[in-house]
Amino acid sequence: MNNFYQLKVSKINQLTPDAVEITFSISEEVKDIFRFQAGQYVTIKHEINGEDIRRSYSLCSNPNSTNISIGVKRIENGKMSTFLTRELEVGNYLSVMPPLGSFVLNGDRVVGICAGSGITPILSMMKTEVSDFVLIYGNKKRDSAMFLDDINKMSVKSYFSYSRENVPNCFHGRVNNDVLKEIHRSINFLEFDYFYLCGPNEMISNVEEYLLSINVPKNKILFEKFTSDDIIQDSEELSLDEVVTSDVTVIIDGDEFEYQLSSDAETILDSAMEEGADLPFSCKGAVCCVCKAKVIEGKVKMKQNFSLSEEEVDEGYILTCQSHPITEKVVVDYDEI
Ligand code: FES
Repeated sequence: MNNFYQLKVSKINQLTPDAVEITFSISEEVKDIFRFQAGQYVTIKHEINGEDIRRSYSLCSNPNSTNISIGVKRIENGKMSTFLTRELEVGNYLSVMPPLGSFVLNGDRVVGICAGSGITPILSMMKTEVSDFVLIYGNKKRDSAMFLDDINKMSVKSYFSYSRENVPNCFHGRVNNDVLKEIHRSINFLEFDYFYLCGPNEMISNVEEYLLSINVPKNKILFEKFTSDDIIQDSEELSLDEVVTSDVTVIIDGDEFEYQLSSDAETILDSAMEEGADLPFSCKGAVCCVCKAKVIEGKVKMKQNFSLSEEEVDEGYILTCQSHPITEKVVVDYDEI
């Protein structure tokens, strides 16, 4: 399950001084494995200064094209994004996990609302056959906006907003209530099937709040937060009613790993990897969902969860990078997803 494939970098396109589009060649043998739906992401693994770093990046290419591409913006102190934007060269090979993610395109009339590198999954959606697509795209300045040339060549209704400069025919400021209200005057948001939001948490919260306030149903608003967070802050404390020592069983690819774990010790993901399990993970920050598994016996407590829906949690799905056992026996199955 935790499979990485060596993919060759076939092209690096400098998009802005701090952002690149990286294209990987997809050979005939892995063509089916790397088939994806617009909106999905891949996880890249690379050793940097002796540390195993993993980060997830949304695919920005057309799902029907023969190769796959990601867009990467350099984040200050971001180890992986600095490597990918400054050191990677055409011809290098990278370890890439096949596409994952449930932030996928549905509907015929769609609004994509994004900021910064949040454009990447939205761009992939724009390249597919959607009959009516509206883009609302925020950036600090014009020269920091990724994929502007590509967007301008597409027949998509686009609105741009810049927070740090005045640009003719564009909004000035962040993508917020005022911008959305203004756009809603010319297009009726209530006539659209789905809203795809991708960018910083604050933008997503504000946009969601606005859409709900004009009576867009909650189930039509879908969002993805991880693309802007190269560094995840792990500041939350786990609150426990009592500390138990649990008999934990972790199942992956039919193999079982059994060990004891206290609820105030490491997470299920980290502890099982110490036991020798080869488990999938990427952000370790509750956003990418790569470490998802199902609890089939007992209970766990998650420290944070930014990616599983309430329904998934009710069905027993967990983010193992955030989970601690709280019953005397816990069985977690990675094969049940
Ligand atoms: S590794 Fe990303 S949510 Fe757990």
